[in-house]
Amino acid sequence: MSKSREQWGSKIGFILAAAGSAVGLGNIWRFPYLVGENGGAVFIFIYLICVAVIGLPVIISEVVIGRNAQKDPVGSFKKLSNNNPFWKGVGFLGVFTGFIILSYYNVIAGWCLGYIVEAVKGSFQTITDTAQAVALFSRLSGSGSWSVPYLTIFMALTVSIVYFGVTRGIEKSSKIMMPSLIIIILILVVRGITLENSKAGILYLLKPNFANVTGRTVLVALGQAFFSLSIGMGVMITYGSYLSKENNIPSQATRIVVIDTSVSLLAGFMIFPAIFALGLKPHQGPSLLFNTSPILFNYIPGGYWFRILFFILLALAALTSTISLLEVITAYFVDEFKLNRKMIAIIGGAISLLLGIPSALSFGRWSSFQIMNLSIFNFCDYLASNICLPIGGLFITIFVGWFWGKNNALLEMRQGADRTPNWFFSVWRFLIRYVAPVLIAMVLLSSLGII
Ligand code: TRP
Repeated sequence: MSKSREQWGSKIGFILAAAGSAVGLGNIWRFPYLVGENGGAVFIFIYLICVAVIGLPVIISEVVIGRNAQKDPVGSFKKLSNNNPFWKGVGFLGVFTGFIILSYYNVIAGWCLGYIVEAVKGSFQTITDTAQAVALFSRLSGSGSWSVPYLTIFMALTVSIVYFGVTRGIEKSSKIMMPSLIIIILILVVRGITLENSKAGILYLLKPNFANVTGRTVLVALGQAFFSLSIGMGVMITYGSYLSKENNIPSQATRIVVIDTSVSLLAGFMIFPAIFALGLKPHQGPSLLFNTSPILFNYIPGGYWFRILFFILLALAALTSTISLLEVITAYFVDEFKLNRKMIAIIGGAISLLLGIPSALSFGRWSSFQIMNLSIFNFCDYLASNICLPIGGLFITIFVGWFWGKNNALLEMRQGADRTPNWFFSVWRFLIRYVAPVLIAMVLLSSLGII
């Protein structure tokens, strides 16, 4: 491997790929249902704090690690810690988490494919009340013979992109896809908030009620910040490893965070006014998006076409995220074991697909099988987002803030960032050394019942 490492085709290439990884089902499917389960505005408020004081500093740290080490997550920790087995373990936890997230994320992505087909068939045209939408969703998602073929197709799509390397195709198409998705969401936001009786939904998002906040609420908000920004498991280390030195890491990371957070908030404003206007309940869990968004289109001229387009764009947004998950797994095996990229993409995808099938079936036949009072799907999600990602994030902050040495991190961060003001670096360093690790540790310990 004496050749220089592959790099992003253009400056904007990194932002697009990283924002593509960040923006996905986490924003449009996961964020709204968590808001609904965790009390609305107060959850959003805590989420925004987590993003600002933990998410942004961690995303910067990951990119800095990756760009400096020029390796996959395990290789990066190995190189920067002089082969310390503990830090290698942190990289390894990331690869493991990647497998889990990819497995169940793919289930939801598969549903999106299925909903494209249902939208084309016109299955939603005749739906007039919400009970019918809910019934349709549970019938479809509950049937393995409906969901499993779609999740297999979706994984095949993911594999086929990683197989050929993350090409210009993705960089370029993200440029068109991401804005299109945002425009459709904006149309839905306007439609949602102008429905009769939508006010309760708007208030629900804006008026915090601190009475019901528990340690778990904060943990879920923190987990969502990690999940949505694709941090805590090395995606940004891997993507940063393809980044050239002239890129301004603080400014690009800030842009990624702003884009990602805006899409989440928009998704909230798309769904909640409609939920209240249509008389649905906010705490429905993972089915929320699929129970509400199809109906909304019946209130829009040309809704038939917009609905098809919406689910296509949603599937594409999911795809730019799944490839980043598979890319971490692939980069690990390619960099560390010099294995063939194409072979690893296929094997990694196949294993994740198999791991995902129990999650898919847990919406139907296997729904009574529970681990810690959670369905298989919810357990995988809880384990990955609320345990593994925060633990990964915690160690990333400790590594960069305490172990790696002040100058190494700052020197790398300053390269290409001449115009970034000095206070930014001081604030970042303070957050990464003191605020982020302490907060993450407290949240983890309290949710595990230790403090
Ligand atoms: N951030 C993506 C989303 O919001 C999901 C995702 C992609 C992810 N890569 C990740 C989550 C890495 C955690 C870690 O849909």
